[in-house]
Amino acid sequence: MEASNSFVVVANRLPVDMTVHPDGSYSISPSPGGLVTGLSPVLEQHRGCWVGWPGTVDVAPEPFRTDTGVLLHPVKLTSSDFEGFYEGFSNATLWPLFHDLIVQPVYNTDWWQAFREVNLKFAEAVAQVSAPNATVWVQDYQLLLVPGILRQLRPDLKIGFFLHIPFPSPDLFRQLPWREEIVRGMLGADLVGFHLIQNAENFLALTKQVAGTAGSHTGQPDELEVHGTAKVRELGAYIRTPDARNVGVGAFPISIDVSAFGKASKSSVLNLLNDLGNPETTFLGVDRLDYTKGILQRLLAFEQLLEAGALDPEKAVLLQVATPSRERIDHYRVSRSQVEEAVGRINGRFGRMGHPVVHYLHRSLPKSELQILYSAADVMLVTPFKDGMNLVAKEYVANHRDGNGALVLSEFAGAAAELSGAYLCNPFDLESVKRQMVAAVYDLRQNPASARARMLANSEQVYSHDVNVWANSFLDCLKEAGENAKA
Ligand code: ADP
Ligand code: F6P
Repeated sequence: MEASNSFVVVANRLPVDMTVHPDGSYSISPSPGGLVTGLSPVLEQHRGCWVGWPGTVDVAPEPFRTDTGVLLHPVKLTSSDFEGFYEGFSNATLWPLFHDLIVQPVYNTDWWQAFREVNLKFAEAVAQVSAPNATVWVQDYQLLLVPGILRQLRPDLKIGFFLHIPFPSPDLFRQLPWREEIVRGMLGADLVGFHLIQNAENFLALTKQVAGTAGSHTGQPDELEVHGTAKVRELGAYIRTPDARNVGVGAFPISIDVSAFGKASKSSVLNLLNDLGNPETTFLGVDRLDYTKGILQRLLAFEQLLEAGALDPEKAVLLQVATPSRERIDHYRVSRSQVEEAVGRINGRFGRMGHPVVHYLHRSLPKSELQILYSAADVMLVTPFKDGMNLVAKEYVANHRDGNGALVLSEFAGAAAELSGAYLCNPFDLESVKRQMVAAVYDLRQNPASARARMLANSEQVYSHDVNVWANSFLDCLKEAGENAKA
């Protein structure tokens, strides 16, 4: 077993999903989600080792290097792990709880046992591949217990933890029957990072409330230093743990590799618009098909604007690309059928033969095709009820560095804290979504200088705070936090 890796990332998913063919061979394709988008360029730069699940149950190939030099170390999950750990505790307990109860979380002791066992499995894999004194960066809510387990297994490691989804208010988190174990697990890290200052403050407040987790705090949230306009709050506060370590807590808003999201070629955009019947206004949504994303709400807003005559079905189209996600979980099934029913109804009401008003794809697209969609879209619709960051919003912005286009963005997406030029909406209030869609279209047509200034403000932010700023600020802080912990 290779134990020579000085920089190891562990995440539930590897950046690729495996498909096993009947003859036993397998192929790989990019895996979904913002975590992979954010971390892939970082791992490539560091030529790091990525420990994670290969996306198919009961199999795990030998470790291998990708074309871009990242060493992938697959961890095998059984189908029972997948049900209890992934579908159950991660995505039917933690996911809804951390997204402010958009649906009701399920608290199930068997799932909790599976979560503990699988976290142990990931931690053991990391312990085996990590060189002495290596830096290990643990990712996201599926692995909340890994820092604590690793601390026991390998006290020599420098351990960072980053949460890619929101961290809820202590009042919500305290519902969790296993809250103390989870907080203790997170505090196994030397540095715990969140996207937003609010998330970090929620965590700090929680550790004061949950018994037996933290001894004391040094530094109050409101005393903490804010670095730069991205509000990268480095080492915001320390929590002193009962085993006399100092754990750093801070906010580090994730971003994208801007070089991967430039404008598509003019001809490919013109071809697409031609296929769409050269609409005057093209709206676009790109999401995993998740009930947190507010896909139905944007469809309803579009439908109501058509109904009211505020949009002309001959001149406006909505493109919605939805990546299949967590498809066996009840709320995801319901969400998909609601979205697809709405697409059918809207096209039935407002389309004509050969000219639908909503174009809907339920699949993943290659980045090159997404780029064409981003470039063609006049108005990007990003309307989650709650979202840790939302990288799709930043990808659209990066694609529109020329100042064209407009972004309608939910105020409940983490990205809203940075993208001051977005048309902010409240997805719980359809009138607000409609108002901002209309305002964006109005500005593009009647007030282009203002629309342009808004997009330029957005793109300046994204280009000056790309994924390297995120990774470097976290890793620099982790270095400092590790040193501090030893002192
Ligand atoms: P989440 O992590 O919740 O899925 P983000 O918006 O942060 O949400 O990240 C989603 C990532 O997945 C983005 O990089 C986006 O480009 C990608 N993505 C989303 N939908 C699709 C799709 N249909 N095809 C290809 N990539 C997609
Ligand atoms: O961003 C949240 C997240 O759960 C990530 O952990 C993951 O990359 C992405 O969404 C996709 O989710 P899943 O791995 O469940 O398909």
